[in-house]
Amino acid sequence: MKKISCSTYDIHINNWDAVNEYIAKGDYSSIIIIVDENTSEHCLPSIAGLLHQKFDIIEIDSGEINKDLDTCKGIWETLIDFGADRHSLCINLGGGVIGDMGGFVASTFMRGMDFIQLPTTLLSQVDASVGGKLGVDFNAYKNLIGIIKNPGAVFIFTDFLETLPEEQVRSGFAEVIKHGLIKDADAYYRDADINDFSDMDWEQLVYDSVMIKKSVTDEDPEERGLRKILNFGHTLGHAIESHNLDTATHLFHGEAIAIGMVMEAHLSFQKGKIKESEVNHIKDSIINIYGHHTDRIPDTDTLISLMSKDKKNKGGVIMFSLLEKIGIGNFNQEVSIEDIELSIGFWNA
Ligand code: GLY
Repeated sequence: MKKISCSTYDIHINNWDAVNEYIAKGDYSSIIIIVDENTSEHCLPSIAGLLHQKFDIIEIDSGEINKDLDTCKGIWETLIDFGADRHSLCINLGGGVIGDMGGFVASTFMRGMDFIQLPTTLLSQVDASVGGKLGVDFNAYKNLIGIIKNPGAVFIFTDFLETLPEEQVRSGFAEVIKHGLIKDADAYYRDADINDFSDMDWEQLVYDSVMIKKSVTDEDPEERGLRKILNFGHTLGHAIESHNLDTATHLFHGEAIAIGMVMEAHLSFQKGKIKESEVNHIKDSIINIYGHHTDRIPDTDTLISLMSKDKKNKGGVIMFSLLEKIGIGNFNQEVSIEDIELSIGFWNA
């Protein structure tokens, strides 16, 4: 059982009593739990058995494809049907899609009702549920419509990780590796060696990784500067992920980000920031965990065109968050098309 205090809210790890204690303090008019078909089956029974208050359930279909305004409209309508008001509490029980969209729906319903995050995937436990980024995809743009608003609290239960397919845990682990690369070299070298996820001390691993993310989001909650380091691997990674959404092949978010991290580590090497041996270590570690998918990488023109839609761009210039050293990230880095071609070639070799 662990607790991390952020600037305006607490993150509780494996503390079942803390959920009821939080709810009791809020004197809520009603409680709504948002789930998808997976968390309804695997996670809701534990929570339902725990809560002292009665609650209503809103179930949405799982998957990034449903993280849109149509689904929000359905949730808002159901909230009205349930008689929810601004003194209600919304509990988001799920991965990044439910956390991002449930938080957005709650923060905009009647100008804002309280919400808490109960993230159920490794990705959402170490990344999405911390730092208050909320929103939905719009047209082809990921997370285009949204806000930054912190939850009332985050409750992480690492037992939920046991309910996930291993490839989904592996996917979330990419963000754990990223946290080491941008903020803690020792954590990177410890985590990069892990390949077997069957016997992990998840409580400690999640705690360490959340501490890194929290240290960044507490210092720069609005992403004016430092928070951009969390985007390491994501400029090329998101483009690779988007490309594979439109093809018969499939990559989990973390698999795409892992490839993006190798390419962006190579961009950092080209800028003279990290050594050749270090970028090789990153590539070998990623291949050891995720395999070497060279067939999923589109040509440079396609990648550039996909990256031109990235929210981090400024005045049409593609901006990267790279590595200053192993364990130190940087941001607002411009690179040339030739550099990008070399980094794609480095991954493909
Ligand atoms: N996932 C990146 C951030 O929260 O800023």
